[in-house]
Amino acid sequence: MSLFKKSPKALVQKKGKEVIVGITAYDYTSARVVEEAGVDFILIGDSGGMVMLGQEDTYQVEMEEMLIFARAVSRGAPNTLRIGDLPFLSYQVSREQAIYNAGRFLKEGRCHAVKLEGGQEVSHLVEAVVKAGIPVMGHIGLTPQRATELGGLKVQGRDEETAKKLIEDALSLEEAGAFAIVLECVPEVLAKEITQKLKIPTIGIGAGRYTDGQILVFHDVVGLFPDFRPKFVKRYFNGFEELKSAVSSYVKEAKEKKFPAEEHIF
Ligand code: KIV
Repeated sequence: MSLFKKSPKALVQKKGKEVIVGITAYDYTSARVVEEAGVDFILIGDSGGMVMLGQEDTYQVEMEEMLIFARAVSRGAPNTLRIGDLPFLSYQVSREQAIYNAGRFLKEGRCHAVKLEGGQEVSHLVEAVVKAGIPVMGHIGLTPQRATELGGLKVQGRDEETAKKLIEDALSLEEAGAFAIVLECVPEVLAKEITQKLKIPTIGIGAGRYTDGQILVFHDVVGLFPDFRPKFVKRYFNGFEELKSAVSSYVKEAKEKKFPAEEHIF
């Protein structure tokens, strides 16, 4: 596997040529699954705080926890581009803090790049991290680390003023050196316009059909997070029910002394 295949540059070169497909992962086993399924990149997302640790939002997950996820994913998917998601308060404080924690994702988490949330207000941080040699993916639209400021997890850029602001945000991140931008929960027409204005790829989640790529949360794709299903999610497997049924069969058979059977005994 050439190093280039795993580099953010290889992702940028796909713009306009093929759809870029990403997914989140947080542990060794799911990382193996998604690598074998052929994704173009893996995001070790701060959504891991919710789907792996049971937290109610993405404000709580710590850098140390993200690094545990990142190391596990790196072991499970050694041949895939891996992007570490900087958690809340791990980059906003200063350029130095952003560079330090972004660097930890590469040095300790064995990732190839990082993602951080925000538009013009974080462009100076993106620029500083990129100048330190660490590729950065931006993330605008619905930014869950600003959910309280945004008044909840709502579609963004529905009116002219907020749409204009999102276009300016995207251009400012590109100018700062971001190699791609996640557009989360924005109207399809706006996502299309941003995609056409940028030289770098856009990766949509709830942003319609015209972004350069798509990303979804692993647990949503395989139906392992039954509490809540956003409109933009397509569930490809009823994981929670299927796993529950398998474990229930084990419990039943063990209780009834049908397991272990002859073939399981030494
Ligand atoms: O943490 C995450 O899962 C994300 C995706 C929704 C893009 O940031």
